[in-house]
Amino acid sequence: MDLHVLVLPGDGIGTEVTREAVRVLRHVAAKWNHKLSLTEGLLGGVAIHRTGTPFPEETAKLAAEADATLMGAVGLPEFDNAPPEQRPEKGLLKIRQALGVYANLRPVRAYKSQLDSSPLKNHLVEGTDMIIVRELTGGIYYGIPRGITGTGADMRAVNTMTYTRAEIERVTRMAFHLAKTRRKKVTSVDKSNVLENSQLWRKVVVEVAIDYPDVALDHLLVDNCAMQLVLNPRRFDIVLTENMFGDILSDEGAVLAGSIGMLPSASIGDRRPSGAWVGLYEPVHGSAPDIAGQNKANPLGAIGSVAAMLEYSFGLKEEASAVESAIEHALASGHVTADLRPSGAPATTEQVGESVCVAIS
Ligand code: IPM
Ligand code: MN
Repeated sequence: MDLHVLVLPGDGIGTEVTREAVRVLRHVAAKWNHKLSLTEGLLGGVAIHRTGTPFPEETAKLAAEADATLMGAVGLPEFDNAPPEQRPEKGLLKIRQALGVYANLRPVRAYKSQLDSSPLKNHLVEGTDMIIVRELTGGIYYGIPRGITGTGADMRAVNTMTYTRAEIERVTRMAFHLAKTRRKKVTSVDKSNVLENSQLWRKVVVEVAIDYPDVALDHLLVDNCAMQLVLNPRRFDIVLTENMFGDILSDEGAVLAGSIGMLPSASIGDRRPSGAWVGLYEPVHGSAPDIAGQNKANPLGAIGSVAAMLEYSFGLKEEASAVESAIEHALASGHVTADLRPSGAPATTEQVGESVCVAIS
């Protein structure tokens, strides 16, 4: 198979974890005889430095041409006070929108060998296996009007949370579709006791659910969900929620997996004429400037994102599960990065990438 992948390493540890993810991708392509063509592009802070904008035209063009896009992370502290249009994060929001990847799948698993990495009690986290399905191209992240107006005491800031029925419906279908392949349970998360936005969300989810009679549906308010995630994480199979709630809850989910460095993600849009899903693959973590350039970031979230790419954009299930088993294998060896609190000397980013390749062998 021809795999044409755009690689956007981005900023900070993004470049380091992406290097390992690409190492694994090359390894898989060689082993299964796929023809891999990789293109590299600019996104985020590095793109601002080189071109003056976080999402250059050239990157938009490359992403549209590629079968799938693999991303590292964006964000640099030097842009902390820059206006929104000139921030690295804007590049990420724009590429999500440009590709129309409205469903962000964030699997959260507690690996047996890593139970001690979580600050929570083992018996609570053990067996956790859920996917947070986060709506990614709507809601308060993109709503208009937005901005800061006025001066001095009259300054005022506004953001708008807005959803259409169609936006809720398509991500809900994605969540139910996934649930059918798993434990057949969707938990929809909203704030319908306060927000009209959430009232529409709940109404549409209930309507869509009628088409999936074999999938159980329940609803949680987002504040309660935040609590249930750490009280009883095994109760969750698919968590379906809007953009900002999903952003917040997935960082909380990282605590269950032992480290945010563990979490992969797949952002999926519509199907291309070829039948492949449009996909953008990135670890959930950020650019972590504090540990950048030290070869100590955990690359497993990025490598897990490669597994997701193989599965969703290329339909290569065998290759995808080989990568997932290799991740498990690398974890079980105990030679893991510092964030997972290994008992011995921590592994480097590069060593973890290599050991995943060896485990695939
Ligand atoms: C994420 C990140 C991004 C988001 C930031 C970097 C814009 O936190 O992917 O979770 O909020 O979506
Ligand atoms: Mn986030």
